[in-house]
Amino acid sequence: MTRTLALLGLVCSCREPLAPAQAHAQAQQIWSERCANCHGPGGRGDGPGAKLLPKPPRNFADAQWQSSADDARIAQVIVDGGPALGLDRNMAANPDLRRKPEVVAALVEIVRGF
Ligand code: HEC
Repeated sequence: MTRTLALLGLVCSCREPLAPAQAHAQAQQIWSERCANCHGPGGRGDGPGAKLLPKPPRNFADAQWQSSADDARIAQVIVDGGPALGLDRNMAANPDLRRKPEVVAALVEIVRGF
């Protein structure tokens, strides 16, 4: 019985989606722990780690970029990393988020909010 259940868990990646408030809290934590180091707390591409990069991240507060970018592409960069879209390899993939689309969506909202 337990084995069957474990197998089922492997086959279908069924997982309760997080409640919106939880997804936002996780995204906020991920932003400060992983992203802000390069992208800066305010998304301006001026985090402490940005100085070490050959190509610093763009300024998310740039209205022109905001209107040119689409949500699906932002989500894909976050999950698959820069090279998947021809961007810098210093933008690492976040494969752990592949199964957490609601957290990715909340991260996209954070990027959109700058
Ligand atoms: C090690 C530094 C670093 C970290 C950490 C990092 N990024 Fe990036 N990110 C970059 C760089 C550099 C680019 C720009 C790539 C380019 O323009 O070629 C980028 C690009 C992006 C883009 C695409 C912007 C565009 O031009 O379309 C998004 C969205 C993004 N990052 C979001 C995030 C999020 C969300 C996180 C946290 C989960 C994160 N990044 C973590 C360095 C980083």
